[in-house]
Amino acid sequence: MSRRKIIAGNWKMNKTPQQARELIRTLLPLVETDEADVVFCVPFVDIPAAVEEVSGTNVQIGAQNMYFEDAGAFTGEISPEMLWELGVEYVIIGHSERRQYFHETDEDINKKLLMAFEYDLIPIVCVGETLEQREAGETLSWIRSQIEGAFEEVPEDLARDTVIAYEPIWAIGTGKTATSEQAEEVCGYIRQVIGELYGPETADVIRIQYGGSVNAGNAAELFSMPDIDGGLVGGASLKEDFGKIVNYK
Ligand code: 13P
Repeated sequence: MSRRKIIAGNWKMNKTPQQARELIRTLLPLVETDEADVVFCVPFVDIPAAVEEVSGTNVQIGAQNMYFEDAGAFTGEISPEMLWELGVEYVIIGHSERRQYFHETDEDINKKLLMAFEYDLIPIVCVGETLEQREAGETLSWIRSQIEGAFEEVPEDLARDTVIAYEPIWAIGTGKTATSEQAEEVCGYIRQVIGELYGPETADVIRIQYGGSVNAGNAAELFSMPDIDGGLVGGASLKEDFGKIVNYK
């Protein structure tokens, strides 16, 4: 089975709507490709401008978060229906920064995952261990618990369309990339856990990204590993280098 690569930029809390337009105009010619799905995950307020700028191109727009209710008294939150109406196609769920700074739990992440599907948003679910957990030899058991928590009661036909991003927390924004062997070990393990939950066919089709200090110099090696189907890119997605990451071959 050859899975289509998916390379997504997570802009995090960067770029105003006007700056987003400018960056997208710079990046669009650089990220043209037939060989991978390309996604820009932009801040909420940039979404209308971003959707307009990428219209008719190979780039799709993602959000970085959403709430798990349709509507209601949840001051400051954004619903999946709002994202859907704007033309958003992907949504990052459970990024480690949201788990760490905004106290999102596996249960929240599971509810968001289930709700994203209701609005045809493709979730990019993030998992990853801290340096302490890695050094204590707890990486795989931690990742298993995050995957099992996120996918609770998610049916097979939806699970297979989900994108999972393995992002070791110690590699995010640190310039300290996991080696391709470390990244492959965990991505392969995630595929194994998905296989236990849903069977071998789902494990074979589900796409698993690596994230954490991906750059133009290391993308090719990481993305050529058998269980790594692309990347979730932070800092380097805001630069022209993102074109080199997308066209890493
Ligand atoms: P960096 O690529 O800046 O390390 O960020 C990774 C990340 O968190 C993507 O979601």
